[in-house]
Amino acid sequence: MSQILLEIEGLDKRFGGLHAVKQLSLRVAKGEIVGILGPNGAGKTTFFNLLTQFISPDAGRIEFKGQSLRGLKPHRVVALGIARTFQLCRPFPGLSVLENVLVGSLGPRVHHTDLVERAKHLLEQVGLASKADTAAELLSYGDQRRLEIARALATEPELLLLDEPFAGLGSAEIEAISALIRKLHAEKQLTILLIEHKLREFMQLVSRVIVLDFGEQIADGTPQQVVENPRVIEAYIGKQGTTP
Ligand SMILES: Nc1ncnc2c1ncn2[C@@H]1O[C@H](COP(=O)(O)OP(=O)(O)OP(=O)(O)O)[C@@H](O)[C@H]1O
Ligand SMILES: [Mg+2]
Repeated sequence: MSQILLEIEGLDKRFGGLHAVKQLSLRVAKGEIVGILGPNGAGKTTFFNLLTQFISPDAGRIEFKGQSLRGLKPHRVVALGIARTFQLCRPFPGLSVLENVLVGSLGPRVHHTDLVERAKHLLEQVGLASKADTAAELLSYGDQRRLEIARALATEPELLLLDEPFAGLGSAEIEAISALIRKLHAEKQLTILLIEHKLREFMQLVSRVIVLDFGEQIADGTPQQVVENPRVIEAYIGKQGTTP
C-alpha cells in the first residue's frame, strides 16, 4: 500500500442545530487526486475548513504524515505542508500579483535564496508571468483563480486543497485550469483534494471520488463507481433534479 499522507477518523462538526460534518473517515495516499463531490451545503468547504483548522472540529482525528493537526493554528498547518485555495477568490488588495505570491513564500518551508525569482517562476508555471506587476484585484476571474493556485504553491505544499477552482469560469478557462492542475500534479508530485461541481473535467482529473450529502459520506470509489451508485443518484435527483 502506498504511503498514507492524510488520515481522518470520526470527524464531526455541528453549527448549532445543523450537523454539517458527520463522522467523516477517510484516508488519502501520497500522490492521489481525490475529488470531493456533493450537493450545495453538503459540508465540502466545512471539511476543508476543519482540515486546515480554520474552524475546530467537535470530534475526530486528523493526522497528516502521522502528526495530529487538532488544535494547531492554520499557519502551523500550512507550515506542515497543506495549502488551500478558496471558493471565493481572495487576493490581497493593493498588492501586485507578484507581491501576492511573495506573501505566500514567507513561511518556514521555503528555503530559496531568491524569493522574487522563485515567485516569478511560480507565476510562469500558472501562466501569469506577464501580469506580475498588475494589481491583483484587476485580474480577470480566471486569472484570480490562477493567482490563488500560485499563492498556495508558494508555501511549498505536499497536499493542495482546491475549493471549486472552476467556479465562475467559461469552458476554455476550465480546460486551462484543469490542464494546470494535471501538470502540477505530475511535476510536483502533489497530492490534491479537489472540490468541484463542474463534473466533466472533474471526473477526468480525479482517480477517486468521495461524495458527501448532508455532512455524511455516502460514497467512496472510482468516478465510474460513484456515478452508478444509487445513493449518489438519489442525493442528486432528490435535490437538484440532475444526476452527477
Ligand atoms: N461558520 C458557519 N456557521 C454556521 N453554519 C455554517 C458555517 N459554515 C457552513 N455552515 C453551514 O454548513 C452547511 C455546509 O456548508 P458548506 O459551506 O460546507 O457546504 P458546501 O458543501 O461547501 O456547499 P457549496 O457546494 O454550496 O459550496 C451549510 O448548511 C452551511 O450553511
Ligand atoms: Mg463550498
